[in-house]
Amino acid sequence: MSYGLLRGKKGIITGALDDKSIAWHVALRAHEEGAQLLLTNAPVALRLGQPKALSQQLNAPLIPADLTQISDIEKLYEEALRHFGGPVDFVLHSVGMSPNVRKGKAYAELDYEFYFKTLDVSAVSFHKMLQVGRQKGAFARGGSIVALSYIAAQRVFPKYGDMTDAKALLESIARMFGYFLGKELGVRVNIVSQSPTPTTAGTGIAGFQAMYDYANKMSPLGNASAAACADFIVALFSDLTRAVTMQTLYHDGGFSAMGIAEELLQ
Ligand SMILES: NC(=O)c1ccc[n+]([C@@H]2O[C@H](COP(=O)([O-])OP(=O)(O)OC[C@H]3O[C@@H](n4cnc5c(N)ncnc54)[C@H](O)[C@@H]3O)[C@@H](O)[C@H]2O)c1
Repeated sequence: MSYGLLRGKKGIITGALDDKSIAWHVALRAHEEGAQLLLTNAPVALRLGQPKALSQQLNAPLIPADLTQISDIEKLYEEALRHFGGPVDFVLHSVGMSPNVRKGKAYAELDYEFYFKTLDVSAVSFHKMLQVGRQKGAFARGGSIVALSYIAAQRVFPKYGDMTDAKALLESIARMFGYFLGKELGVRVNIVSQSPTPTTAGTGIAGFQAMYDYANKMSPLGNASAAACADFIVALFSDLTRAVTMQTLYHDGGFSAMGIAEELLQ
């Protein structure tokens, strides 16, 4: 059901790889709520994933950009400014990848080249998007920017490996940049900390199914789906949340407030 929450708004959605991606659901919901979109993903994802199908379905341009590369991010904003004829009202950062996790390297035995790659792709890319976007004048006054995190930034989930540190950094970047963009442009920057979700990135974590089942039992509302996450993010893009900024907001069915669930004790 559409409430017209994003009517007249324009936004950039990163990270929609296939119909399981959280970003894919956000793009569909934002479109349904009346937004005009520009999609972007890494060049390799354009070849191997299905972002082209989404771009056609939503009549939204699809711009290849490796978000670790400043020159790609510059081109992305130039394209967005040209396409929309002005700055954007919202941005979704929905990007994460750890070569250490992919190769099964435990947290106490990291490959440091991989570690820097994890931090660059999963966290510093957010800083780059915010810094370059600000320099390019690509953010409209009163806009809203959201990135996705996981509760491993606050609590220990051993198999989450170096993604843990990337998420802690990502959340810090949102807080810091939220201050500067808030003061300057009234732009909000928030983090949505989402339940385990069966996507390509999610299921790449060793023991994902066990983490998913555990969180599902622990959370009084059960795990939050990608579709529910999209609803929440659309609310954050809308004017209904215009005083919320610099927060890590838990979208997790109550998991983060729990100690132990009776179901797990039995
Ligand atoms: N799935 C979960 O359990 C879960 C839980 C909490 C948070 N998150 C976060 O949600 C976000 C989206 O992940 P998802 O679960 O939808 O998985 P996904 O695999 O569908 O999306 C990850 C996206 O990152 C993109 N990407 C990777 N490297 C890139 C680069 N260098 N430049 C541009 N794009 C790049 C991929 O192409 C892909 O589209 C990530 O930040 C992830 O950490 C996921």
